[in-house]
Amino acid sequence: MSSRLEISDLRIAYGASTVVMIEHLVVEPGTLAGVIGANGAGKSTLVNGVANWSRAEPRIAGTIRLDGEDITSLSPEEHVRRGLQLVPEGRGVFMGLTVEENLTAVAGPSGETGRKAYAVDDVYELFPRLRERRSNFAGSLSGGERQMLAVGRALRMAPKFLLLDEPSIGLAPRLVVTMLQTIRTLVEGGLTVLLVEQNVNAAMEVTDVLHLLERGRVVASGTVAEMRNDPRIIEAYLGASHG
Ligand SMILES: Nc1ncnc2c1ncn2[C@@H]1O[C@H](COP(=O)(O)OP(=O)(O)OP(=O)(O)O)[C@@H](O)[C@H]1O
Ligand SMILES: [Mg+2]
Repeated sequence: MSSRLEISDLRIAYGASTVVMIEHLVVEPGTLAGVIGANGAGKSTLVNGVANWSRAEPRIAGTIRLDGEDITSLSPEEHVRRGLQLVPEGRGVFMGLTVEENLTAVAGPSGETGRKAYAVDDVYELFPRLRERRSNFAGSLSGGERQMLAVGRALRMAPKFLLLDEPSIGLAPRLVVTMLQTIRTLVEGGLTVLLVEQNVNAAMEVTDVLHLLERGRVVASGTVAEMRNDPRIIEAYLGASHG
């Protein structure tokens, strides 16, 4: 079920301004890779660009490979068919549908894909809170519940590779930990994940590898152990508690 993503010479531009420039970035199968960086660093542009999903229609040049296949110019629908699934910033659940309707409205590919298709009950196992709220409209959910629902919807599509853009944003600290640990559980089950996370300390608890993005460029990459000792990370994100 796990999957390898390889990004080469990626440039993403809005009009005349190039906001993402990545020479090479690999997410190895069955790992959880984190992308961290300041507001405006290009994190959302990166993950949206990989999924070829953006209302703003940026220009994308370079090569993105999923398990060796060049997927750069494929439509979002074709990405989903191949098991690449994005949960964008701001999500995309249907507010006027109940939790359960949101989950039943999507279904994985028919036929044998070798990927795990999550039944609605599987999603409830992962996020018990959603079961309790199954008859409530998505519009009435808390921010955290809505994020669980967005991840649950993505899992229904039988992804092998998940791109998650700040799934923990706005959550109470306790729920941040729960959300990230659930994502870790999915990775232990074989999924490969590229996670955008603002909370660097929380990201370090669950990721295998971290990439620091600054003005669209990867300026540092490494295992959590390596990144924890990187002066740029300490200075900008870990602050006095490590200094
Ligand atoms: N639709 C757009 N048109 C023009 N410029 C854009 C557009 N979307 C984003 N940008 C610019 O691209 C850069 C990267 O933005 P992006 O949203 O990818 O950053 P981010 O790292 O996700 O930030 P945040 O942490 O705030 O979510 C910023 O300078 C932003 O102003
Ligand atoms: Mg963003």
